[in-house]
Amino acid sequence: MKIKKLILFFSLSVFFGVLGCKKDSIQNENNVLLNNKNVKMESFLDSLMQVMTLDEKIGQMVLFSTDWEKTGPSINNSYKKLVEEGKVGNIFNAYTSKFTRELQKTAIENTRLGIPLLFGYDVIHGHRTIFPISLGESASWDLEAIENGARIAAIEAAAEGIHWTFAPMVDIARDPRWGRVSEGAGEDVYLGSEIAKARVRGFQGDDLSATNTILACAKHYAAYGAAQGGRDYNTVDISERELRTTYLPPFKATVNEGVATFMTSFNELNGVPVTGNKYLLTDILKTEWGFKGFVVTDYTSINEMVAHGIVKDDKEAAELAVNAGVDMDMQGAAFMDYLKELIAEGKVSEKKVDESVRSILALKYQLGLFDDPYKYCDEEREKNSLMTTENLEAARDMARKSSVLLKNNKEILPISKDKKIALIGPLADNKWDIIGSWSAAGDRYEKPVTVLEGFKTKISNSSNLMFAKGCEINSDDTKGFNEAIAIAKKADVIVMVMGESQDMSGESASRTNLDLPGNQKDLLKEIKKTGKPIVLVLMNGRPLTLEWENEHIDAILETWFPGTMGGIAIADLIFGDYNPSGKLTMSFPRNVGQIPIYYNVKNTGRPIDPKNPYEKYKSNYLDVLNSPLYPFGYGLSYTTFEYSDLSIDKNKFTFNEDITVSVIIKNTGKYKGEEVAQLYVQDLVGSVTRPLKELKRFEKILLNPGESKEVSFTINSKDLAFYTRDMSFKAEPGEFKIYVGTNSQNVLETQFSLK
Ligand code: NOJ
Repeated sequence: MKIKKLILFFSLSVFFGVLGCKKDSIQNENNVLLNNKNVKMESFLDSLMQVMTLDEKIGQMVLFSTDWEKTGPSINNSYKKLVEEGKVGNIFNAYTSKFTRELQKTAIENTRLGIPLLFGYDVIHGHRTIFPISLGESASWDLEAIENGARIAAIEAAAEGIHWTFAPMVDIARDPRWGRVSEGAGEDVYLGSEIAKARVRGFQGDDLSATNTILACAKHYAAYGAAQGGRDYNTVDISERELRTTYLPPFKATVNEGVATFMTSFNELNGVPVTGNKYLLTDILKTEWGFKGFVVTDYTSINEMVAHGIVKDDKEAAELAVNAGVDMDMQGAAFMDYLKELIAEGKVSEKKVDESVRSILALKYQLGLFDDPYKYCDEEREKNSLMTTENLEAARDMARKSSVLLKNNKEILPISKDKKIALIGPLADNKWDIIGSWSAAGDRYEKPVTVLEGFKTKISNSSNLMFAKGCEINSDDTKGFNEAIAIAKKADVIVMVMGESQDMSGESASRTNLDLPGNQKDLLKEIKKTGKPIVLVLMNGRPLTLEWENEHIDAILETWFPGTMGGIAIADLIFGDYNPSGKLTMSFPRNVGQIPIYYNVKNTGRPIDPKNPYEKYKSNYLDVLNSPLYPFGYGLSYTTFEYSDLSIDKNKFTFNEDITVSVIIKNTGKYKGEEVAQLYVQDLVGSVTRPLKELKRFEKILLNPGESKEVSFTINSKDLAFYTRDMSFKAEPGEFKIYVGTNSQNVLETQFSLK
């Protein structure tokens, strides 16, 4: 062993020409590399790469899961042995200081060079302290809070040995049938890009070598959200213009923000699976955008190119992937099994492998793993960092901020704490589902606060709170109905907590029916017969179709899957200790036939007359309006806001001038409240057709009852740029409309021209 290390040291010191490092290196029995701290990254990487064998290099390009958790088939279960043999340089689905330390020790002590492992994990909306699902968080429109959520997740994950999260997911999603809409930031490109950046900042902080920051991963690159029919993993065929206008900008935004890694998506794009798509991975990502980190595949997506029918076997798949620009193979073993052969056959160049390995080692270096491979495995820090009071409070706050009040007839909400309440529904006392999907390390048994528990903290007279489950989430069993109806009859007000189970959204959870599942609506109808006021609290991972509920239920509060502190946050909202301020980031369709539905549509050649929406030979349906039930940007408050005096500083602008738009917003109701003011633009004539509205700015403000504030937004011609007829990205001169308002439909408008 020692001899091996000394030989290695000799080659390193010859290469470095630095004799001074000899002493340090000799003192370290385990890893000569660890003590070359003072050598700058590039020369360190040169030296390291110089002494690595091809097998060792390929090992760095392999990522395997432990047997802890999986989201797909297991190719090879002997991950520990493979680590020892240097065949696997990266591990996912491993956390806790103890477990990651053990595995790290295996790599450091048993492999020739002792290159540290990189530990990845799906830290999506919190780690131990679970925040609302990502779609829910996006409804806060609060970038600072979203960044802070990612920061807390990173602190907790890093304290448990994790170096790298597979987040943020930045896929724009306009089809709520697709279960993964729950993991993103909704339908809008501008908001989605701002949120993507906030999440990258939150995870990575400004110093990757700090022990409380982790690498982020922009996923799933690209256009995964455009899967046909909303069916997961399905085909995507869209134009270059649509790709660049809608699906790529949030990814590009993460590159500009310094995101460390990218994950390829499962889908094909225009005939070529993304994992083998050189145009996307190399030409756009690495060359055009200058991305310097590494690209990992999604789970076995190299191998899946065989099923896609683009290659005949795993070996050809490995060749296609590496030559397209993939640097690391997640779980597929295709690089491990075939890269060496492919190089020997001249089908893959060693240079290509070197580039990939270097980008991976560079990030290990930047994390500080070559200084101390165990720096993230600190039991003491782990003990003090998880689920702290501060983290739990932040999760509670985020759950309140994320909730969207969809309806509040006759101001039935907030409910006074002395009312007799019947709390009913399969999600009312449910710890398992409240934290949502992708809550990988989140506890589903003890920690989550249910709505029933939350209500108990608010109501002093316990006989005023009655509870019945009523029904299951997705079943036709009615045996609980009678008990629910009985308590409803005794109550002043009924609160129903309903929605989806956590696994009805997320990966592999597409649905074609977006109604409340099972017989929940039947129970609602029965309860409605009592004639009592009803509040419907929803937990779900996607927009649902709620036409009946909207018509018959008095108040509806959308809380998504609100996380560990969900129940207490909901109680804060229901009893008026917090005023709802969330706004939808995805349109809620009236029925599934309207999908895909999103606000920034084009006009078409036959737009409808809103006064005559069913007119024949117009772009409409015979049986449903074009408009969604609840539009993008929509959300009520317990107070009301009035917009007035929309003004623009000039009416004619040059390309170099700033355009300032102002509006007065007044709180005209009884409660202090927050409002998200939204600014949209419309380019009236373009060299290609332009959307009716595009979000360009927003601002969240807090107003006391009776208080008014002027809100000003500044944009310039860069904000008006788009992919023109010849695909150059620029603004065109002409007339523009500006809309400012409380959601994408309810707006004031003004106009300007650009010359
Ligand atoms: C598959 C999912 O598509 C991806 O989002 C996730 O990060 C990986 N599995 C790893 O768990």
